[in-house]
Amino acid sequence: EDAALAARFQAKVDAEEKIEPNDWMPEAYRKTLIRQIAQHAHSEIVGMLPEGNWITRAPSLKRKAALLAKVQDEGGHGLYLYAAAETLGVSREELFEMLISSRQKYSSIFNYPTLSWADIGVIGWLVDGAAIMNQIPLCRCSYGPYARAMIRVCKEESFHQRQGFEIMLTLSRGTPEQKAMAQDALNRWWWPVLMMFGPSDKESANTDATMRWKIKRFTNDELRQKFVDATIPQAQHLGLTLPDPDLKFNEETQHWEFGEIDWAEFKRVVAGDGPCNKQRIKQRKTAYEGGAWVREAATAYAEKRAARARG
Ligand code: 3HC
Repeated sequence: EDAALAARFQAKVDAEEKIEPNDWMPEAYRKTLIRQIAQHAHSEIVGMLPEGNWITRAPSLKRKAALLAKVQDEGGHGLYLYAAAETLGVSREELFEMLISSRQKYSSIFNYPTLSWADIGVIGWLVDGAAIMNQIPLCRCSYGPYARAMIRVCKEESFHQRQGFEIMLTLSRGTPEQKAMAQDALNRWWWPVLMMFGPSDKESANTDATMRWKIKRFTNDELRQKFVDATIPQAQHLGLTLPDPDLKFNEETQHWEFGEIDWAEFKRVVAGDGPCNKQRIKQRKTAYEGGAWVREAATAYAEKRAARARG
């Protein structure tokens, strides 16, 4: 690679200039962006499955409408992100193949089952809350199309988080059974949500490069800590307890210290051996195959229109 080109590229990144699709970029920059944006897109689409499971069973029309809107938003986020990945020279079909052949990942968090309505509250409150923590800095990512996709996503994500917290507030102020349901959901989701931020910094293979290239603006542990500090007071407001006996507030650092994450579980779920991995991939394949006729019809229609336009 021409060293001068690479130096000019890094100078642009250091000067906070956006890198656009037609700009020269190191192949490793392109590769890691395709990897991260594709996984982000896969996460949005797979994330529709655990939530979609409750659309027909929402406790009221209002809750059903809000959940329907949220799941639809996630589909849209996937679309923006696949479109951002395509600007780097990959096709959606290639990315889909990479997903179902496990050559690309999606967020571990979506491999857990949604067992009660309270899970939908916890997902909005904590999963989308963690996603917001992670996505706000991505609005300042050095790659233009990714940063611009994130600005729209973050606006919609805040509605997701608020509707989730409101579900938890309703349950925690409801009957003892409702409060117990909220506590049970928090107990099952708390640790998997902390794993959304990725491995610890010392284990993270990509952080050095993605920080240098200003794709990542904070490390995994920094964002995880920000999330814990912001979320504990919310759990206290709900009158719920966190399933971590080691939690304690450090007056000096003004941060919440928390227990050790089960990294064996993290590795197992990322490697495909979580509670719902097989079911999620199977559902994605079925949806893709089931939608083939729509893609074929749209392509045939577009070709007919193009032929008519040629006259
Ligand atoms: N689940 C699955 N894989 C994970 C993971 C998780 N929770 N955390 C890390 N990994 C993978 C990484 O992808 C990497 O594997 P790879 O090299 O094959 O891609 C490996 O574990 C090592 O992790 P690193 O920290 O080195 O990887 P990154 O630098 O990419 O950091 C990340 C991981 C913070 C998730 C980063 O990729 C990122 O910010 N991605 C974009 C945001 C995203 O994907 N969020 C998913 C949340 S779900 C969501 O946003 C939908 C919302 O609507 C709820």
